[in-house]
Amino acid sequence: MSAVTSPRFDFADLGALTDLYPLLARMRAQEPVHFAPQLNGWVTTRYADAVAALRDPALTSQRLALIVQYQLRHSDPAIAKDFERICFQQMLFRDGGAHHRLRVLGNRGFTPSVLDRARPMIEGVVNDLLDKVQARGHMDAIADFAQPLPAVAIAELFGIPASDRDLFQTWSDDVAKFFGGTHGDPATDGRACNDGALALEDYFLRLIETRRRAPGHDLVSLLIAGQAEGKLSAEEVCAQCILILIAGHVTTIDQMGNALSAFLHHPAQWERLRADPALIGSAVEEAIRYDPAAPFTHRIALKETQLGGKTVAPGDVVYVGLAAGNRDPVAFANPDTFDIARAPNEHLSFAVGPHVCLGAGLARRELAIGLAALARRMPHLRPAAEPPRRRCESLVFRGFHSLPVAF
Ligand code: HEM
Repeated sequence: MSAVTSPRFDFADLGALTDLYPLLARMRAQEPVHFAPQLNGWVTTRYADAVAALRDPALTSQRLALIVQYQLRHSDPAIAKDFERICFQQMLFRDGGAHHRLRVLGNRGFTPSVLDRARPMIEGVVNDLLDKVQARGHMDAIADFAQPLPAVAIAELFGIPASDRDLFQTWSDDVAKFFGGTHGDPATDGRACNDGALALEDYFLRLIETRRRAPGHDLVSLLIAGQAEGKLSAEEVCAQCILILIAGHVTTIDQMGNALSAFLHHPAQWERLRADPALIGSAVEEAIRYDPAAPFTHRIALKETQLGGKTVAPGDVVYVGLAAGNRDPVAFANPDTFDIARAPNEHLSFAVGPHVCLGAGLARRELAIGLAALARRMPHLRPAAEPPRRRCESLVFRGFHSLPVAF
């Protein structure tokens, strides 16, 4: 890190950052690329700097050890050794040609036609969940609605039999919880994550064998086709399956909660969506811009590079501000206004550059189907008496533990 004398911004207690946006606005105004000693890393808050960082080959995505170390705090890193071994082969943590090879094959599973085939299944899951609570008149929008949806949707894409779904959900919860950060004991969470990752690896290796003998149209079969072409090893197929599972899990749960919270705080926009359901597409984009599930992602400098006029030294961590870029007045008119008809809306919430979210199409469909069903079936959606509990203990994942609503 180069020597800096700069204003102090408090990142000492990430759990206290429930009101993240005023802090990001102050940083953007005072020092848009800032070295935060408490994070031991750089934080960006302008749109242009985020785009530059995500496209800068001097900044690597190979940051797995950083994530594991952060999540385990002071516990023995060996606790999560299998998780680390498996993740090491995932596209999210690779650069350049190695990333591209894995990504091209992953793309095959997320084409619009594959995702459109998933629509009736997602509608079915959404309606089943709402049927269970409709007569009650209230629910926790996280536990009763947002939480169960993504794991079922992804399990369906993988062609996981319904009888295995509960086990699958438990393993995936355990891995995703550690990856995304919880308030729990780091060592306990780390062990559960490692066990979950091993169980998933075992499950997927067996599933890969089954599909190799009898291929279908599911995601696993599509990835195996890549393996048959000699482009992927069995371990790599397995590692991408686990990545897709965890990358699409917590993020979608958190994003559904954040979107609903935005509507609860802006009832006129909820009314507007109810009156004009055709706004659902732009409403989803605006909800994702306004309060993204992944406010930051990180990179590590391989060599010295310039970012927004600051010199980033080799080894420095850069927290790339996606949420902050979404509120940059240079990029968006009235950025703090929640406007469900906003257009254009080139937000950064799915990142840009080589690692742009593989599952954005699926996430958009889940959010659109879920929010449209809520607007149709629970038109009087409002906050319940019990307050929500924010979940923001890491800069990389932001959502709710609970979001009680009445309807
Ligand atoms: C609203 C929900 C979601 C948000 C906010 C989100 C956000 C992101 C972001 C910001 C990245 C880039 C990370 C980086 O560059 O460091 C990313 C990558 C990725 N996402 Fe998502 N995501 C969501 C849903 C999903 C879903 C549903 C899936 C799959 C089922 C998924 C799979 C992936 C994968 C595989 C990558 C890695 C892509 C690569 O490295 O090339 N995501 N996501």
